[in-house]
Amino acid sequence: MPHESVPARRSLLKLLAAAPAASALGGLATAAPATAATAATVPGIVKPTPPELFTIRGTNAESRFDAFRSTGLLTPTDRFFVRNHTSTPVLDAATWRLTLWGDGLHGRGPVHLTYGQLRDLPSVTRTALVECAGNGRSLYATQQGETVSGTAWTLGAVGAARWRGARLSDVLRRAGIAADAVDVQPRGLDDEYVTGGVNLGRVRRPLPVAKALDDVILAYEMNGEPLPYDHGYPVRVVVPSWVGIASVKWLGDIEVSTTPLSSPWSTDHYRLFGAAHPPGGSAPITRQTLKSGYELPFGTTLEAGRVHRLTGRAWSALAPVRGVEVSTDGGALWRPARLLDAPRRDGWVRWTVPWRPRRTGPATLLSRTTDAAGNIQPERAVHNTQGYLFNAVVRHPVVVVRDGEPPRTFV
Ligand code: MTE
Repeated sequence: MPHESVPARRSLLKLLAAAPAASALGGLATAAPATAATAATVPGIVKPTPPELFTIRGTNAESRFDAFRSTGLLTPTDRFFVRNHTSTPVLDAATWRLTLWGDGLHGRGPVHLTYGQLRDLPSVTRTALVECAGNGRSLYATQQGETVSGTAWTLGAVGAARWRGARLSDVLRRAGIAADAVDVQPRGLDDEYVTGGVNLGRVRRPLPVAKALDDVILAYEMNGEPLPYDHGYPVRVVVPSWVGIASVKWLGDIEVSTTPLSSPWSTDHYRLFGAAHPPGGSAPITRQTLKSGYELPFGTTLEAGRVHRLTGRAWSALAPVRGVEVSTDGGALWRPARLLDAPRRDGWVRWTVPWRPRRTGPATLLSRTTDAAGNIQPERAVHNTQGYLFNAVVRHPVVVVRDGEPPRTFV
């Protein structure tokens, strides 16, 4: 971390001058989320992660997609997935500081911002999905018979929330971002990440200035509450429509640079490697892709002869969803699902379709999203060794049973 310098203090004074006098730090400190519950927790995750809402995968908790069925457009915190490289740090807003530093600042020295100063900046509120680049990864193996490395998510490494915070562009401008800055690199305050005996340092990933100045938020609220500990309290980055790794939690500092930056999260990880990609890997991945899924457990039973109101969600980071088609016979016949929400950028839509299965036995349900830019979920996703950006139509197994048979789940 760079040392304090005179120009930095000057920038800090500018920041202080820009902020109203009453930063209300005392009040904010008491706005911290409740302390950790003890029941049904995973080491390293503060909130409860009961099995009816989450599947635990190492240090991470995947949301059960079927648990979204009872929710609206926003994913309540109690069922929002957690992706932690290490563990959730319990930080204190009263002592938290954001440091901006690097040769891409006019003053060249670091600029500091307290939680109160950040909250005193004009706020923006917007709904955006956070989705892991590897969401759906396990389907490369189960559906396509391909080997990939990384957390074996099904479809639940995604959630939608209403984020409130300051614009990163406001913070960068007030800190004195230079006209020739090209990259910024937010870094988290969680522990350094050690994998395979190699210490990769703290989670950080470069973000081009063009995106940083566009729609990125330094969020301090999620769904109208202070950010929960597991989702980045007191402040996280939210980069709408980009892969989840860009949305750095527990933000501690941001490097601003006039030369391109890199980190293991933009070189070894979060690029596409494999036969279908350039020999050194693709460019670092940025935008998410498009997906859809049924809000049903895999392998669940449905009774024959009854009308089931099947529900699901569809989303695309490339353009608003235009439509969803479903097939209940493994892909022979397709029909449109009814959209329950007006499609919008960076959100998902809920959809529903009635189905009256006639024959008992295994069946495969499919859903296929089309977006306003003409993208459509393909039958197969293009393989990459780390299993990112799975976008293929998901083959959802269910079992149709005789009317009156008790419900079960076949795994
Ligand atoms: N930021 C820090 N500091 N540490 C992390 O482990 N995980 C990233 C990102 N930000 C991570 C982080 C990844 S890979 C994802 S998908 C999202 O946070 C997940 O956000 P969530 O846990 O709030 O759902």
